Amino acid sequence: MCGIVGAVAKRPIAGLLIDGLKKLEYRGYDSAGIAVIDAQHQLKRLRVAGKVRELENALSTQPLYAHMGIAHTRWATHGVPSEQNAHPFISHDKFALVHNGIIENHSILREKLLREGYQFLSETDTETAVHLIHYHYTQMGDFLSAVRAAVNELEGAYALGVFSTDYPDRVIGVRQGAPLVIGKGQNENFIASDPLALLSITQQFIYLEDYDIVDLGLHAFQIYDRQGQAVNRETHTLSVGLDAIERGEYRHFMKKEIMEQPEAIASCLEGRITKSHVLPAIFGPKAETIFPQVEHVQLIACGTSYHAAMVARYWIESLARIPCSVEVASEFRYREMAQSKNSLFVTLSQSGETADTLAALRLAKKMDYLSSLVICNVPGSTMMREADLHFLTRAGVEIGVASTKAFVTQLTALLLLALTLRQQNKQADEKIDRELIEQLQNLPGLIQKVLQQDEMIANWAKAFTEKQHAIFIGRGTLYPIALEGALKMKEISYIHAEGYPSGELKHGPLALVDTSMPVIATVPGGTLLEKSLSNLQEVRARGGKLYVLTDQTHLFHQDAFADAHIIPMPSLHPLLTPILYTIPLQLLAYHVAVLKGTDVDQPRNLAKSVTVE
Ligand code: AGP
Repeated sequence: MCGIVGAVAKRPIAGLLIDGLKKLEYRGYDSAGIAVIDAQHQLKRLRVAGKVRELENALSTQPLYAHMGIAHTRWATHGVPSEQNAHPFISHDKFALVHNGIIENHSILREKLLREGYQFLSETDTETAVHLIHYHYTQMGDFLSAVRAAVNELEGAYALGVFSTDYPDRVIGVRQGAPLVIGKGQNENFIASDPLALLSITQQFIYLEDYDIVDLGLHAFQIYDRQGQAVNRETHTLSVGLDAIERGEYRHFMKKEIMEQPEAIASCLEGRITKSHVLPAIFGPKAETIFPQVEHVQLIACGTSYHAAMVARYWIESLARIPCSVEVASEFRYREMAQSKNSLFVTLSQSGETADTLAALRLAKKMDYLSSLVICNVPGSTMMREADLHFLTRAGVEIGVASTKAFVTQLTALLLLALTLRQQNKQADEKIDRELIEQLQNLPGLIQKVLQQDEMIANWAKAFTEKQHAIFIGRGTLYPIALEGALKMKEISYIHAEGYPSGELKHGPLALVDTSMPVIATVPGGTLLEKSLSNLQEVRARGGKLYVLTDQTHLFHQDAFADAHIIPMPSLHPLLTPILYTIPLQLLAYHVAVLKGTDVDQPRNLAKSVTVE
């Protein structure tokens, strides 16, 4: 989603703002812009409908020399991606403003401002905010008071960065539902949507809370809370190395992140398990008193995180014997539900900022849940700060919009949750638990082996570049993995792909299967093997092209499957197959996208951190 960077410094800031925007590119955007106050105290602005590098090119021909300014990457919501709709927006050459989120009452405000004589040059909701600040400034004559008065009128979830030519060394930031951090420097201060934008400048960050307004100056800043009281917020030191946010030897972040999965899982497990059991306090000290009371688990998430939640339902019910419900956040928020007794509310989110999931968490906190737990990859994110209990997945920074290493660590965390609930629910069986944990520890090594199949998967990919459709199938815990494989394919290769439980094919989707339809199947050995093989026969009988991931390769040497394409998989405990079988599906989507020449790390229309509803 949109990215904001703002700076007040003694040194020239245009380059810093552009660097910041580059670091925010991963969030997804379609246009970019920058506004500054130059040495002559004039407001100068440059905008492009396109990438940050185009803005950078434009800046090289029209340099902006300034010590303060704001910059923005826009992910279109109201109005097409165009220069006219790109931020920053300006009012009367005096105020410039950037915005992330949605101003819901913009139509009413626009009418009011039109009546006051303001002219609108864009189709955006944002332009109302800058004119509204100007309007209040003409009434009140004070910058901070004008921003406050405008914010009181704005409805929605958003973050703002704004400056005025009357105050050439101040930038005001507002957080109301969308993330905004302060980056503290030496005689310079910054704001940004994400600390990553500022990591090359500072490691000291303050996460603003909802309704906070920060008045940022060169040597100091002051935060005000909802009541307008000056408040102090905790400073966090982030020690993320810059190499974590560089592509290194890889062509794409997504490939780097796929290859990092063995170490991501190892890091997620580190210090959290012994040889035979999960350490009791890994979900926080309060979990030890809460978990034994849990009679139901409610899992809430969006997209890939939702698929992780779907896998967890199988685990929690089979290992801990606790009933579990799973729902996408945007549905959970808007329906009347019958709440289960003593239910633990669990949100899953890579970013910890997804608007729908965050809203569901806030709703749950007002309901009758036993407690709330978030499983998240971003320390300091809003969900991590607001949930009662938290678990950091430690996958490391994930830049590719298509989630990969964050997903496998979410799965790892959820398996630990199922095992912990099992221990607390007196369901533990030492022999079974020991075996599961041993295999969990071996998982990074097994993933490494699967990653070695990269070339073979790249060969498979060649057959997909001309395809319009693909079907992914799996049974049990591998059904959500089929959904995830299909989502990855859709997101980055733009091929229409669907995931189904293998047994559902004959209830409809089989009508789509003909000689041009690739069907990607996950077929591990185990109790469902025979049933899965029958489903594959149904596909073959209609001429469908089979692509099979299996540890039962011997079965596919027979005539019945002579024309199936096979990737051999290592054998492992059936409960762990969803983690392992995800890897080739990520690689397949990746290679198809590379061959098709799509923007792998920033696929069209998508954003990494979805901070609007
Ligand atoms: C993943 O590949 C997607 N980009 C998307 O579905 C994502 O998982 C979803 O938006 C939820 O994000 P979160 O995990 O940060 O909450």
